[in-house]
Amino acid sequence: MNMKYTITTPLYYVNDKPHLGSSYTTIACDAIARFERLNGNTVLFLTGVDEHGQKIERTAESKNLEPQLHCDEITEKYKYLWDKLNISYDRFVRTTSIEHTSLVHQFYSKVLKSNDVYMGRQSGWYCVGCEEYKDVEDKDKSPICSIHKKELEWRDEENLFFKLSKYQDQIEKLIHVDGFISPKSRKNEIINFVSKGLRDFSISRVNLKWGINVPGNMDHTFYVWFDALLGYVSGSLNDQSSPELTEKSLCNWPANIHVIGKDILRFHAVYWPAMLLSAGMKTPRSVFGHGFLTREGQKMGKSVGNVLDPIELLEYGGIDAMRWYLLRDIEFGEDGDFQMRRFVDIVNSDLCNTIGNLLNRTITMSKKWFKENIPIDNTLSSDSTLKVQSEKKIIEYMESFKDSNFKSSANAIIDLANSANLYLNDRAPWKLIKDITNKNVVALDIYSVLESCRIIGILLNPIVPNLSNRILKQLNIDTSNINFKDSLQWGLLDPNNGLQDPTPVMDKIEFNEDPI
Ligand code: MSP
Repeated sequence: MNMKYTITTPLYYVNDKPHLGSSYTTIACDAIARFERLNGNTVLFLTGVDEHGQKIERTAESKNLEPQLHCDEITEKYKYLWDKLNISYDRFVRTTSIEHTSLVHQFYSKVLKSNDVYMGRQSGWYCVGCEEYKDVEDKDKSPICSIHKKELEWRDEENLFFKLSKYQDQIEKLIHVDGFISPKSRKNEIINFVSKGLRDFSISRVNLKWGINVPGNMDHTFYVWFDALLGYVSGSLNDQSSPELTEKSLCNWPANIHVIGKDILRFHAVYWPAMLLSAGMKTPRSVFGHGFLTREGQKMGKSVGNVLDPIELLEYGGIDAMRWYLLRDIEFGEDGDFQMRRFVDIVNSDLCNTIGNLLNRTITMSKKWFKENIPIDNTLSSDSTLKVQSEKKIIEYMESFKDSNFKSSANAIIDLANSANLYLNDRAPWKLIKDITNKNVVALDIYSVLESCRIIGILLNPIVPNLSNRILKQLNIDTSNINFKDSLQWGLLDPNNGLQDPTPVMDKIEFNEDPI
C-alpha cells in the first residue's frame, strides 16, 4: 500500500562548513528515503539548516560579516555537498526564511492559547556551542562543557518559559511506546531522564538580536531550539509559500522518523513532542539517535587537527566508496571509528572485487559464448541454488533496512555476491563450455549469476545509487522505474535485452599513508 513517509535530518548549524558527522546522518537518511521510495511510498525527505542563535551570531561577527551573509555562504556549502553526495532531498529548510518566521509565530500563538508560557528568571551555566543550559554540580569553578571542552558562560536573565512539566505524564507515555525511540539503549537513557521529573525551560532570549522576534515581547527573540525544531513543520507544509497550520497544509505531518545524532536526543524525544502537544499537533512517529564518529580512535576536532573533510574524502575515494563505508562498516546507532586503511580495504574488497569482478567476468563469458547476449532463461521452473539464496538474502535485507540496520542489509548483499562467486568457481563454466553438449547447463549457470547481479544492483540502490545505476546499465536495465515489489522477482532478466560491453563498475582505491 502506498503511504506517505516523511523523514528528516537535523537542521545543521551554519557556524561552520559541513563535516563528516553531518554527512553521515544525511547519507543514512538518504538511504532510508530511497528505500521507502523503492517500497512504493511517497516520500518527503527534508533537510536544511539552523541559522539563528548566539553561536551563529558570534561566528559571523568573528568573520566581520552580516549574519545573513554568513548564513548564505555556509548554506551554499551544505547544498553543494549534498549534491555531490547525491542526496535526494525534497525540501531544504532555512530557518531565516520569511515563511518559517510566520510559522513560528503561528505556532507560538497556539502555545500561548494553551496557557503554556510565562515570564520567569533563568540563571545558570550556558554552553553557546550546544546552545543549552547545563546542569552543573560545582558552581564555583569555571565549568567546562563536556562536548565542546569550552568554558560555560554564566547567565541570569528574564526569559519566557514553556511549561514542559505540565506534559510529564504524556511524555512518559510517549517515550515508552514501542518504536518511538531507537536504538533501545538510547530509549533507556531518555526514560531515566524523564523519570527524574521534567522542568520548564526557557524559550526566549534577551540581548540576542540574531533570532526571530517574540510577538508581544519585542526585546526577546526565540530560543534557537524552539525556532529550529519548528523547521521540521515549516519544511513539511503542503504549500511552502503560504505557511498555515491547517489540517490540509499539515498533510505530511507528523514525520515518520527524525534521524539525529545522540547528542540531540532529548530535544527531539522530550522537548519537541511536548511543544507539539501544547499546540494541539501530532507528535513524530519515531526518533532514531545514532552514534558518533571518531577518527582513528580520536574524537574529530579542530584542535586535534584530525577533522576529516567530506569533500576531500569524496575526491579521494568517490561517492560510492564514502556512502558504502559509512553505512556498511559502522553499526548505525553505535559509535563508530573512521579508519582510512579499513575504508580502502572494505571498498576494494566489497565493491571492486566481490561485486565488480563478478559482474565483469560473467558479462564477458556471457557475451563470448552466447552471441553477445544473455543466455535464454530456463531457470524459472528450476529452484537454482542462487534463486533460493537470493530470496533468503532479500528477506534479510528488507528486515534489517526497516530497522535502519544498514550494516546487516549491506552484509546480505555481500553474502549474495559471495554465493554467486562461489557458484561460478564451483561450476567452472569455462571448463564445462569446452564440451558443446554442456551448453544448456552453462546457459543456466550464467543466467543465474547475471540474474543475481541484477538483484544485487537493485538492492544496492538505496546505499550506493550511483554504483547501482552503473551495474544495472551494464545489464541494459531501465533504472527509471524500478521498485522492490515488481523488480525483485527472480527470473526477470530479459535475454532479449542484450548486455553492454563490460567495463569495471568500480575503480580500486590506492592506499597511501596520509591521503587527507
Ligand atoms: N542545529 C542543531 C539541530 C537542530 S534540529 C532541529 C544541531 N546542529 S549540528 O550542526 O550541531 O548537527 C548535529 C548533528 O550532526 C548531530 O545530531 C549528528 O546528527 C551530526 N553529527 C555531528 N557530529 C557528529 C559526529 N562526530 N559523528 C556523527 N554525527 C555527528 O545540533
